[in-house]
Amino acid sequence: MSASKNAFLATFKHITRRTSTGSSTTTATTTRVPKITKPIVSAPMNGWSGPKLVAAVANHGGLPIYPIGYFTDPAKILKELQSVLPLLDDDDDPSTTTTTTTTTSDGDGGNRFLPMGVGFITFWLDRQGPDLLLSILNGKGDSPRTAAHTTTARTPRPPAAFWFSFGDYRPYLKLIREHGLPGTKVIVQVQTVQEALEAQQANVDVIVLQGTESGGHGAQRVSPLITLLPEAVQALKAAAAAASSTSLNMPAILAAGGIVSAPQLAAVQAMGASGVVIGTGFMPTHESPGPDHAKERLLQTEQGGENTIRTRIFDELRGFNWPSGYDGRVVRNLVTQREEEDLRKHGLFEQQGEASFKLLKEDRSGTLQDWEQATKDQNYDILPLWSGTGVGMLKKRGSAAEFMDQLMGDQQ
Ligand SMILES: Cc1cc2nc3c(=O)[nH]c(=O)nc-3n(C[C@H](O)[C@H](O)[C@H](O)COP(=O)(O)O)c2cc1C
Repeated sequence: MSASKNAFLATFKHITRRTSTGSSTTTATTTRVPKITKPIVSAPMNGWSGPKLVAAVANHGGLPIYPIGYFTDPAKILKELQSVLPLLDDDDDPSTTTTTTTTTSDGDGGNRFLPMGVGFITFWLDRQGPDLLLSILNGKGDSPRTAAHTTTARTPRPPAAFWFSFGDYRPYLKLIREHGLPGTKVIVQVQTVQEALEAQQANVDVIVLQGTESGGHGAQRVSPLITLLPEAVQALKAAAAAASSTSLNMPAILAAGGIVSAPQLAAVQAMGASGVVIGTGFMPTHESPGPDHAKERLLQTEQGGENTIRTRIFDELRGFNWPSGYDGRVVRNLVTQREEEDLRKHGLFEQQGEASFKLLKEDRSGTLQDWEQATKDQNYDILPLWSGTGVGMLKKRGSAAEFMDQLMGDQQ
């Protein structure tokens, strides 16, 4: 798939890898080609994405987003980010730096960024302050290694993209534009047409439209992707056309929610997306750090629409204090069953979140103790198994690369 035809790939065409022609290392000619060749982004999934998955997606031509999640210890996050580098098929790796000639004019362009993004939960970043973001922006998440052929430490690289979801990203966008390297991209995940228009106004590089089918957190009241996506694309195109030629760009559009197969990728592309953001589909892959028995449970889940549910109950139990308006989609389990029963009993089924949590505490005071034990046991009868509606179509475990090939189908 070529960058000239795909807005997402074009956005990241400056992230390049080295390719050599010629038989001997002394006469080899090196050219640089785009490293991101598939319009597939792996979502920032706390607990379900980590160094191995991030490296596998990057090494296979996608753009992985490292989950910063609910960080409280910046030093730990920076260390984790550094642990990705040795796993990357990266042309900055000392073992591959023996070539002699570079024929392209991008200088060190391909090496200026790590071939991955980092994903912030925006309201959580508000609570912690921007220091971690600034450290990553300054390349502190890169490995401090020096290249083997030289004793000089190379310039630390920031990630190619910064992802924001759930909150007001605009102060951080400003910081990135002011302090980031030129070419640093900003990806914003939104849940409504209005938010998409605002992101276009803010001049973000990539907008992710997240439908209600999505696994993990999202908006409580949100349209299915099949209408959210085309309506947003229509509105964004109209806004760009109405503005003067340079003042409003048409950002690259990605679709998120329930997508796990090639026909779905083709369908969202037909509706105006360049590519997809996938969470659930990567969860059962070998490289995901999620527990094996939970991966198995995902594969056993059929009829993803019926057997997943959106709820705030787990955020109440965890005490993460999510802002109102957001909930998360999980595979139904004992806790969601209790929540539903209690709410029905009290005629409150339409209300979720705090109301149901209070009822759980009153009627099922054992739940909190259950929760602590479940966390120790990794018991997904109680813990949230975040999952999108596409889970019903996931049938077998494989590598992340195999999953990506299957998604690309005929587009490979
Ligand atoms: C386990 C899991 C964790 C997630 N964590 C985050 C997160 O920390 N930040 C975020 O922006 N989105 C998160 N998401 C949502 C994804 O960004 C994306 O919208 C979603 O995975 C797409 O739907 P799908 O899961 O059906 O592919 C998560 C999704 C899952 C499944």
